Amino acid sequence: MRRCTEMTDDLVSIVEVGPRDGLQNEKRLISTEDKVKLIEMLSDAGFKRIEATAFVSPKWVPQMADHEAVMATVKQKPGTAYSVLVPNAKGANAAIEHGADEIALFSSASETFSRKNTNCSIAEGFARFEEILALARDHDVPVRGYISCAVNCPYEGHIDPNNVAHIARKLFAMGCHEIAVADTIGTASPGDVDTMLGTLLEELPSGVIACHFHDTYGKALDNVDVGLRRGIRVFDSAAGGLGGCPYAPGAAGNLASGVLVRHLKARGFSVDVDVDRVALAEDFAMKLTA
Ligand code: HMG
Ligand code: MG
Repeated sequence: MRRCTEMTDDLVSIVEVGPRDGLQNEKRLISTEDKVKLIEMLSDAGFKRIEATAFVSPKWVPQMADHEAVMATVKQKPGTAYSVLVPNAKGANAAIEHGADEIALFSSASETFSRKNTNCSIAEGFARFEEILALARDHDVPVRGYISCAVNCPYEGHIDPNNVAHIARKLFAMGCHEIAVADTIGTASPGDVDTMLGTLLEELPSGVIACHFHDTYGKALDNVDVGLRRGIRVFDSAAGGLGGCPYAPGAAGNLASGVLVRHLKARGFSVDVDVDRVALAEDFAMKLTA
């Protein structure tokens, strides 16, 4: 399957998940116009991969109910990939029809979280992924696979890294071009992240792994450093550090994009975004949710 990120040693790629992960948990309904404006500000800032929305059930996540309108309205910038989160074939079909450049499916290393978030077991989720991947293959759309609760789960506590490695290997073998391991509730310590990545990297090369850190206890940047030392070069972040998951109690914001960009640049990595424009997008994102 096609890849979305070119890899070199000092180039770090950011997946901007603010319009989806940042906004999905907001109680006040944000207008489609404002969501589209945020996406366009992020593409103007230079982000080349933006998770624009989620084609999930509007009953489960009302904030993402305008997914079709968002995709139909956003002015797509050439060279930017607009990705869409989907839980099943229904979502994948509609996302492809509405011009998604990439699809993101989501599994979990915690059985309880899988049921709370998608109303099915991890194994049942894999049957859905087969369908999603078949559709994506037919349309030549690359697929990212998330693994939630890759370190800790709000229901089950600490997660065995071998579970994460097992699911990652399966997702990759099925055709996901990239596996994003997520600290869903932002409680992972750098030591735990290092252990998890160490186990994972026995199964898969660092070039196919991305890290998705929430920042509940201010450890996300330390965890990014662990990822960098392990050779990971793709990280997720959200404008203004917005975020949370409606089915993960305690999940606070994602790592903020501006914080991540400044951190990476200070460490000598090349990140192809304009920091001033990132700041403008972050101001706008924070006003939307104030
Ligand atoms: P269910 O209720 O078991 O499914 O939900 P169902 O098949 O019985 O369908 C229920 C209704 O939803 C039906 O409508 C379907 O048509 C509709 P009705 O007949 O009642 O009017 N439906 C859909 N509508 C739009 N798009 C779809 C879709 N599928 C069904 N794709 C389901 C199962 C998976 C659909 C539901 O549980 C769901 O949508 N879950 C999504 C939850 C979610 O989005 N969570 C947040 C994102 S994951 C996350 O934040 C973690 C991440 O950031 C990484 C990390 O930090 O860990 C990625
Ligand atoms: Mg998340």
